[in-house]
Amino acid sequence: MFRKLVLTAALALGVPASAALAAGGEGHVRDFAFPHEGPFGTYDTMQLQRGLQVYTEICSACHGLKHVPLRSLSDETGPAIPENQVRAYAAQLEIFDPEINDFRPRVPTDHFPESQLPNAPDLSLMAKARAGFHGPYGLGLNQLFRGIGGPEYIASLLTGYTGEEKEEAGTVLYENTAFPGGWISMAPPLYGDDVVFADGSPTDIESIATDVAAFLMWTAEPKLAARKQAGFQAVLFLTVLAVLLYLTNKRIWAPVKRRARGMPAE
Ligand code: HEC
Repeated sequence: MFRKLVLTAALALGVPASAALAAGGEGHVRDFAFPHEGPFGTYDTMQLQRGLQVYTEICSACHGLKHVPLRSLSDETGPAIPENQVRAYAAQLEIFDPEINDFRPRVPTDHFPESQLPNAPDLSLMAKARAGFHGPYGLGLNQLFRGIGGPEYIASLLTGYTGEEKEEAGTVLYENTAFPGGWISMAPPLYGDDVVFADGSPTDIESIATDVAAFLMWTAEPKLAARKQAGFQAVLFLTVLAVLLYLTNKRIWAPVKRRARGMPAE
């Protein structure tokens, strides 16, 4: 009985796993390794801080993060930036305040600015909006085994430029191996060595791309660690409950089974 159960479970998980790995997506999404992956993975604080720097110095020229409150930068499970630094960071960004009918510096309770370039999408939730891994026939099975692939997609996009360009209806398009359709209107934002990190971390294009992708995963899913912990506790609780129920069930039915076998009940 137990063997059969295990076999069924192995079949249910194993067969789609190989099928899922065999199926390809539209663009090429590389499977970058991120510290937040896996059932116990958490964000790397230093990586999030580097990603924030890349976003601030490069991406924010065009892209906004309008759903992200600036104060969340001091979250312990996020970039964990000290509050006075968050206040200083916020103060550099202006916001139009209708109450005083003028611009004023932002405070930590304000959000990040919106996109500066109208056709550049807001990046707050991009890492969750673009699932890079799909299962066969869109079942999402690949996502179960390799994560949703959002930050992998962003890192692949930033490193996926081939250098080819073409002009279409007055817009310059750049060939990109990760972008569905192969041609994107975003000029390559990274060339390598675009930033200088205070901690001396590598600044080659792939390192910068994964740093900013990890940061954008955090903006889209800031409570990842808490969610994983709650899930783990739920599984633990259900396992203990299942064992208790099994033993209770055996105990309740034991006299009935003894009688059925022609033995006197205790
Ligand atoms: C010069 C302006 C500019 C800069 C700088 C820039 N982008 Fe973009 N980005 C765009 C535009 C425009 C689009 C829309 C492209 C399209 O849909 O063809 C875009 C699209 C995107 C997309 C969405 C792709 C999709 O699947 O729709 C992502 C993700 C992205 N950018 C990430 C970044 C990151 C990360 C940085 C910083 C390293 C960055 N961008 C810097 C202009 C910019």
